[in-house]
Amino acid sequence: MTLRPLAGPYELDLFCRLSYVLDHELADDLATGRRVPEWMWVALRGEQVLARIAWWTNAAGGAPLALDFFDIDPGLPDEEAAEVGLRLLRTAARQVVPAGATSPEYGRFVPAQWREDEATRRVVETVTGVVERAGARLLVERLRLEWRPGTAVPEPSTRLDFRPVKDREDLIALMALAIEGTLDAHGQGDLASGLSPREAAEKHYDEEFAAYTSPREWWQVAQLPGTGEPVGFVVPARNNYHHTIAYIGVVPAHRGQGYIDDILAQGTRILAAQDVPRIRAATDLGNVPMANSFERLGYVNFERAINYVWDAS
Ligand SMILES: CC(C)(COP(=O)(O)OP(=O)(O)OC[C@H]1O[C@@H](n2cnc3c(N)ncnc32)[C@H](O)[C@@H]1OP(=O)(O)O)[C@@H](O)C(=O)NCCC(=O)NCCS
Repeated sequence: MTLRPLAGPYELDLFCRLSYVLDHELADDLATGRRVPEWMWVALRGEQVLARIAWWTNAAGGAPLALDFFDIDPGLPDEEAAEVGLRLLRTAARQVVPAGATSPEYGRFVPAQWREDEATRRVVETVTGVVERAGARLLVERLRLEWRPGTAVPEPSTRLDFRPVKDREDLIALMALAIEGTLDAHGQGDLASGLSPREAAEKHYDEEFAAYTSPREWWQVAQLPGTGEPVGFVVPARNNYHHTIAYIGVVPAHRGQGYIDDILAQGTRILAAQDVPRIRAATDLGNVPMANSFERLGYVNFERAINYVWDAS
């Protein structure tokens, strides 16, 4: 068996002898530097691709931010699949993850009913079994959601006013408040790792929002009419692939009054006004108030995602 990175973008066809739902993004990711051939590895026996793995970043020149491709030939017997997968993961990670850095998280998209379908479950559990053997733990299962044109958006809120986010500080201050009591596993994980609410908000902002090129005026703060007291915020954006509700929150003092629906409607309305083909969003299975709001606003759950993390050593 040979374990090696791709020799160049021209080997994309080789990499795509195994398949995954994000295959169609690879060519553009390579062209724009969000992926580099050195981060895309294959395990080969002769011409056969036994397994493949790849990391991703959000902008050219960045460090790897996510492990988002990991596939093992479903035709391999279980034991061999696990062994090939583990060797590929360990060998590639040693080369790709900078020395001393914690491995970026592994994210995998799965059908909503992945546990019920035996073949799908086997594929998923083979790979997640390997990442667990390599020291990762399941962080969370998430709902992937999509709003489609034609879905009605409620009339603008009569109980909240909206204004654009002023600057980085304006948003980070509200994000730092909203992370308190969050049901979101990534937010909880950031706090558990020792970050303060403000540091967690800064990390989230810098890793995700800072790179968006869509208009900043889309980002909105919700406030009480009259006093202008902030209630929450929403970050509608265009990422490298889709329009998205990148983040949304209600500060603890105003939770439990259904304000999330008013704020999600505002974010959805802003993107819908751009004639977008779809709006993507995601939330943890366990973030029930958020998931319920997406459902009330007509977002469809089309897939799930499972996230595995390596803890800092
Ligand atoms: C998720 C969130 C936006 C919900 O906002 P909200 O306006 O309070 O939502 P709702 O008013 O519809 O809440 C519905 C119920 O869930 C409860 N609830 C809301 N947030 C809660 C939380 N963080 N923890 C526990 N319960 C919560 C409410 O009290 C309410 O309970 P009730 O039905 O017994 O009155 C808010 O908790 C939040 O900002 N969380 C942190 C950020 C986050 O998770 N964003 C989404 C990322 S995808």
